[in-house]
Amino acid sequence: MTFVVTENCIQCKYTDCVEVCPVDCFYEGPNFLVIHPDECIDCALCEPECPAEAIFSEDELPDGQEQFIEINAELAEVWPNIAEKKDPLPDAEEWDGKSGKLEKLER
Ligand code: SF4
Ligand code: F3S
Repeated sequence: MTFVVTENCIQCKYTDCVEVCPVDCFYEGPNFLVIHPDECIDCALCEPECPAEAIFSEDELPDGQEQFIEINAELAEVWPNIAEKKDPLPDAEEWDGKSGKLEKLER
């Protein structure tokens, strides 16, 4: 079992999640974070920390977000690790809650 970062993180990237992860299993791209499914210990600490409510257990994903299981697994293999909080993206508040952000994902 793993937790998964979903679409609403895109263009926001608040990074509060990385501060609480006991195994540092977050990986960072230009405008999105992912969780490495083989490193996540399913502790659930990150889920309530995300201001954008973008983190879910893989068995509790909202409808339409299932593809993010594969996206997290794929990008966690190529992006660098992030273990410390940084500033969110400049327009994070504006993007928070918008639909159709997947097309904005930068790899
Ligand atoms: Fe890290 Fe726990 Fe979140 Fe997994 S559930 S990403 S181990 S904080
Ligand atoms: Fe993204 Fe939420 Fe973390 S917006 S960077 S999953 S705190």
